[in-house]
Amino acid sequence: MANRRASERRPSDRRASGLSSRRPSIDPWRLVPMDKTVHIGGSDDFNVLFIGAGNIMFGSDEGPWNHSFRFEHKLGRRLKVVALIDPAIERATAVLQKKCDSFVVSAYQDTRVFKTLEDFVKNMAPKDRPRAVIVGSPPMFRGSLAPGRDIEMQILKFFPGVAMFIEKPIATGPKSEIQDAFTIAKTIQDSKTICSVGYMLRYLKATQMMKHIIDENNLTVMATIARYACAYESIAKPDWWDKSKSAGPIVEQGTHFCDLSRYFGGEVDMSTVNAHSLEWDENAGALSKMAVDESKIAPENRIPRVTSATWKYDSGAVGSFTHVVSLQGTNYSCELEVYADGYMLKLVDPYVQPTLYIRKPGDDNEQMVRFPDDDPFFSEVSNLIDIIEDIEEDPEAAQILSSYEDAVRTYELTWAIREASERSREAAKLKAAAAA
Ligand SMILES: NC(=O)c1ccc[n+]([C@@H]2O[C@H](COP(=O)([O-])OP(=O)(O)OC[C@H]3O[C@@H](n4cnc5c(N)ncnc54)[C@H](O)[C@@H]3O)[C@@H](O)[C@H]2O)c1
Repeated sequence: MANRRASERRPSDRRASGLSSRRPSIDPWRLVPMDKTVHIGGSDDFNVLFIGAGNIMFGSDEGPWNHSFRFEHKLGRRLKVVALIDPAIERATAVLQKKCDSFVVSAYQDTRVFKTLEDFVKNMAPKDRPRAVIVGSPPMFRGSLAPGRDIEMQILKFFPGVAMFIEKPIATGPKSEIQDAFTIAKTIQDSKTICSVGYMLRYLKATQMMKHIIDENNLTVMATIARYACAYESIAKPDWWDKSKSAGPIVEQGTHFCDLSRYFGGEVDMSTVNAHSLEWDENAGALSKMAVDESKIAPENRIPRVTSATWKYDSGAVGSFTHVVSLQGTNYSCELEVYADGYMLKLVDPYVQPTLYIRKPGDDNEQMVRFPDDDPFFSEVSNLIDIIEDIEEDPEAAQILSSYEDAVRTYELTWAIREASERSREAAKLKAAAAA
C-alpha cells in the first residue's frame, strides 16, 4: 500500500483526500497584483457598506491590510461607500475625512456614519442599498446568534441576497457558541448568499501553486507541518494579550495557519487534537519586550508563549502546528510544509516575501520560487467582486476560496487546540501537586 501511487488506489482510499482537493482553487497565473490590472468594467455605481473603521478596513503600520484601498482599485470610479458603521464615530469620521481629502473622494463624499447597522437601515434611501457588506468589526461582535453579536444574521435579515465579506476569525466568543456559527453557515448556504471569509493566505500565488502541484500530480497529502512565530514586540493591542477578549493567540492569529493546514490536509478529526503550551508563569515563558502592561490582565487570562499541537485528518494524514510568541522587531517568521509521496512543498514568509521551496521525485535539491508583488488581499477582494458581478465570459476564473462554513471549521480546530493545551496544563499541575 505504502508504495502504491495515488492513481493506483481504489476510490475509497482517496475519499478524504478527495475532499481536500475538492476545496476550490484558482489557477495561480490568474492572480495578478493591483498595478498589473485595470479596474472592473461598467459605469454604474457599486454600493458597498463597511462595518468597522479600524486597521483592517483603512490600514495601519501593523501590516499590508487595508480593504478600502483594494476596493478602490478594483472598482475604480464605480465604488460608492454608502455608509460606515462604527460605534467609534470620531474614528470613522476621521478616516472618511482623509479619504475625502484624497483623489478617491468620489467614493466617499456621500458616505454616512452610523453607530449601528439598524440606524443605517432606518435612514437608508433605496438608492443606497448595498451590493456588498464588508465586515471588519472585532470578532467578539460577530459569529453568534446573541443580540449585539449577530451581525451576519442582521445583514441576512435586512439585506437578503446581498453579498458579504467577513473578517477572520469568524468569532471569539465562548466555545459553546460554535453551534451558533454553524447555524449562521447553514443560513448563508440555504439562502445562497455570496459570502467570503478573510483567510487571505489561501489567495497567495504560492498557495495556489502548491494546490496546482498537488492536483496536477494527483497527490495525497501525508502531513502538514506549520509554524507561526509572531513578533510580539510589535503587538500593542491589550486585547490581543487577554484570552477573555480575543480568545488567545491560536484562535485570533494562529487561525491563519490552522486554516491553511486544513486547506491542504482536509477535515480534521477533532477528537485526535493534542497540544502542549509554555505559559506566561513558567520560567521559559518570560518576555522582556512586551508593549503592553501584562499586570493589568487577570493571571488566568494571560496568553501562552508557545502552543504546539498535533492531530489526524480524516484522510489519515497527520497535522502539526506550533505557535510561538517569542520574536521581537516587526516581521513574523511563518512556514508551512506539506508532504506527499516524493514531494515536499514548503511555503516560507507568506506575509512579507512569499517563497515556495519545492522538492520533487528525481531530484534531492529543492527548487525555490519567489512571488514578488503578490497581493493576496487584492486577490481576495477581486475574486469576491467578480463573483458578485457574475462575469460570465470566464465562469471558471473567479473563486471564493474560504466559505463561511469552512471558516467555522477552522474556528472549531483552533478552539480544540486551545482546549487540548489547557487540558495538558491542568494534568501537569495535578501531577506536580501529587508529587509534592
Ligand atoms: N486578514 C488579516 O490579515 C487581518 C489583519 C488585521 C485584522 N484582521 C481582522 O479584522 C478584524 C478587525 O481588526 P482591526 O485590526 O481592524 O481592529 P481595530 O481595533 O483596528 O478596528 C475595529 C473597529 O471596529 C469598531 N467596532 C467595534 N465594535 C463594533 C461593532 N459592533 N460594529 C462595528 N464596528 C465596531 C471599533 O470601534 C474599531 O474602529 C479582526 O477580526 C482581525 O482579526 C485581519
